[in-house]
Amino acid sequence: MSARNTPALNDASKAIQWHNNKLRLLDQRLLPQQEVYLDYDDADLVATAIRNMVVRGAPAIGITAAYGVVLAAAARFKQSEENWRETIEQDMEVLAQSRPTAVNLFWALERMEKCIQALQAGDPIEALLAEAIAIHAEDIAANHTMGELGAALMEEQGIGVLTHCNAGALATGGYGTALGVIRSAHRLGKVAQVYADETRPWLQGARLTAWELLQDDIPVTLLADGAAAHLMKLDKVQWVVVGSDRIAANGDVANKIGTYSAAINARHHGVKFMVVAPTSTIDMSIASGEQIPIEQRPTEEVLCLNDQRVAAMGAEGWNPSFDVTPAALVDAIVTEKGVVLAPNREKMLALMEKS
Ligand code: MRU
Repeated sequence: MSARNTPALNDASKAIQWHNNKLRLLDQRLLPQQEVYLDYDDADLVATAIRNMVVRGAPAIGITAAYGVVLAAAARFKQSEENWRETIEQDMEVLAQSRPTAVNLFWALERMEKCIQALQAGDPIEALLAEAIAIHAEDIAANHTMGELGAALMEEQGIGVLTHCNAGALATGGYGTALGVIRSAHRLGKVAQVYADETRPWLQGARLTAWELLQDDIPVTLLADGAAAHLMKLDKVQWVVVGSDRIAANGDVANKIGTYSAAINARHHGVKFMVVAPTSTIDMSIASGEQIPIEQRPTEEVLCLNDQRVAAMGAEGWNPSFDVTPAALVDAIVTEKGVVLAPNREKMLALMEKS
């Protein structure tokens, strides 16, 4: 296999790396207590890592799957130089089955599939690795562009923003979507204080967002998800800034469970609501958010904390991992191709038709 490694990606977080012909992932389940990297040379294990949230966040899942395809191709080509294109389809299917909501996963797999189709005979690894690295690098570039575009929407200096889940460097190729905007706006003096929902049940906000922002010396205050409406009533935040796992053709937005509540609360209190996502998160094949598959995760995530049961024995759990915020509650969708204010079908179409 090629000796090429992921280039220096000019970002503090190296959550996803190609290193010595293996995929290296920062195990996000252990943060912030431990920074442990796991190496993968098997596509099935990469799919399991996605399912078990070693790596999570829509763009990060897509990038990881792309590197998973490189590993699969290396193994299949070694088995058979003639048949690898047929046998790799099983690996692509296993990767596709890992998590259902983030469309970036399917987008990245389709892009790798097109690359496979376009290959001539011979060792495919160099070309596939170049494509995976391109997906990774393009995501970082998109995040920097979105950072500037989103920060430009904030007109005042020194404001407070609320974010939900983790849409930062850990959830992407680097820099982040929602946290990319927050990073850029903080650098410009526009954002003075970040409030982060702890994001029950997996606590992405408490464990990951707080960890990331503190590394950049951005002040962050954690709150229980249920405290967000009270925070808004006290006029502490002027914007809610979140990422997305899938945006439908009409501008409906799927994101971490609790985002919909945040959007309703924001509208009620006159707080602006911004969604930051690359166009790889936009799924023009589905008309509305009703068609977005919502992942149901194990109920233990709700009933237990750190593997310790906290709920009364006998209580059942319900654990939808995402919800859908209707486009009508969204003030701005920020993508690398531009900003859509008050999104609707026509505006989303016009955005996607831009080169
Ligand atoms: O279950 P997760 O942690 O993968 O959910 C992640 C989110 O909901 C993020 O907000 C979303 O993927 C955007 S990441 C840039």
